[in-house]
Amino acid sequence: MNYRHAYHAGNFADCIKHALLVWLLRALGRKPTAFFALDTHAGPGRYDLSSEQAQRTGEWRSGIARLIDNPPNPLAGYVDLVQALGLYPGSPAIIRALMRPQDRLACCELNREEYTALRRVFARDKQVAVHHRDGWEGLKALLPPKERRGLVLIDPPFERPDEFTQLTDGLQVAYARFRTGIYAAWYPIKHRTPVRAFHNAMKKSGLHDIVAAELWLREPVDPGRLNGSGMLVVNPPYQFETAIAPILHALLARLGTGEAGAGIACTRLADE
Ligand SMILES: C[S@@+](CC[C@H](N)C(=O)[O-])C[C@H]1O[C@@H](n2cnc3c(N)ncnc32)[C@H](O)[C@@H]1O
Repeated sequence: MNYRHAYHAGNFADCIKHALLVWLLRALGRKPTAFFALDTHAGPGRYDLSSEQAQRTGEWRSGIARLIDNPPNPLAGYVDLVQALGLYPGSPAIIRALMRPQDRLACCELNREEYTALRRVFARDKQVAVHHRDGWEGLKALLPPKERRGLVLIDPPFERPDEFTQLTDGLQVAYARFRTGIYAAWYPIKHRTPVRAFHNAMKKSGLHDIVAAELWLREPVDPGRLNGSGMLVVNPPYQFETAIAPILHALLARLGTGEAGAGIACTRLADE
């Protein structure tokens, strides 16, 4: 467990993930009924981009730094939120900012230091529970929620080779318990082969209504490099595919580096 998200906060992959997360939460908030959000790999909640870790990699410079000035319309909601929250917000802070008084958030974080930092962010917040526990185990323990509607964000560090399999298994376990939930699972695009295998596994998983939203900055042929990233969404809200197309286009226009083979895709893997 060496992974520390502080080195990567605000990078291009965070921008894709968080811009889509904002859209999903806004869609959930359209109905007044309460929702439950589960963030299985939550991280410390917010990031100082002037910290030694963030400065060492400088990844945010080719991510959020490229969006902050005069953001294009489809990204304005996400960028305004980042500016309003001050420090670069991690997924728990983004979710919390879009909750109403009737909504609840539960976060799982396995690393003790990150967990302690996250607890501090939500100290005395009665709508947020922070668990020092394994997120895969949290899918079993915390689902289904009493609200019967909600969003599960699964954002593992992808440090180990079996994490795509773990993600497929985790989604199946969670879906069996909470069939109507919206699931958003982040994954890296380094090389096409493991991504194709993951998509094929999801097609055979028995889950319905699956869409994969992807952006890659260059032809993903170097397995040692994060060339792009994807978000697999199960049970996407109404008009997800239509609504996120301009978001992906705007992200590529700002984050793209002009390298050959860059692109976006929104692919339906399973029908409703
Ligand atoms: C990619 S980061 C999360 C970033 C966060 N979701 C965001 O968007 O701001 C992954 C986090 O998962 C934590 N982690 C790793 N394995 C875990 C597990 N099995 N259960 C819960 N957390 C885990 C790591 O410590 C790290 O903080």
